[in-house]
Amino acid sequence: MARLTFLGHSCFEIVTDEHTLLIDPFLTGNPVANRTADDCSPDFILLTHGHADHVGDAVAIAQRTGATVLANYEISEWLTRQGVKSHGMQMGGEFSFPFGRVKMTIAFHGSQLPDGSEGGNPAGFLIKLPTGTIYHAGDTALFSDMRLYGEEGIDVAILPIGDNYTMGPGDAVRATKFLEPRQVVPCHFNTWPPIAQDAQAWAHEVRTQTTAEPVVLAVGDSLELSS
Ligand code: NI
Ligand code: MN
Repeated sequence: MARLTFLGHSCFEIVTDEHTLLIDPFLTGNPVANRTADDCSPDFILLTHGHADHVGDAVAIAQRTGATVLANYEISEWLTRQGVKSHGMQMGGEFSFPFGRVKMTIAFHGSQLPDGSEGGNPAGFLIKLPTGTIYHAGDTALFSDMRLYGEEGIDVAILPIGDNYTMGPGDAVRATKFLEPRQVVPCHFNTWPPIAQDAQAWAHEVRTQTTAEPVVLAVGDSLELSS
């Protein structure tokens, strides 16, 4: 089994039979978070890019738990300098981890690290678990090569819908058409006023325009993947 839990903003936890993964663990300072960094015990942390609302508590959590952090090469070097165990990747690259295979995917956005360091290129992840494939798009604009990722067979796509910093609800519907996932989960909205969105209105458009099932998770809610 695998359980996907929304922790607010772009942060998701994936619990499999043997491992816990945490994506973009922005909890401290996240106005919608219902969990603290100390409540998280991941084996692996995945970072889509260097912005503070994604790197979040990754360093503190990894230092405390010994988790391995998957990130692009530049962020992985930055983590190494802080005594964090990391695994550097780059876009297009795939690697087998104990929990499954991960492909780092392209994203159109920025990636500067919280201290101003150069954070390389932003990314997303295709996370290929034995129980299904999850795509976390990271922060990105719509791009038509999402079709190519869709060809890999996506069970759950996680897409930003907040607009302003990323694609908005309309483009997230178009992204869903490209990706053809079984289910699509919105993120990166309602954390702050500039990214306020009506997720139920978006879900209605997904239902009428695509074959995917929209799943709007409240913070703390989960969905189960089963093969
Ligand atoms: Ni960002
Ligand atoms: Mn962001």
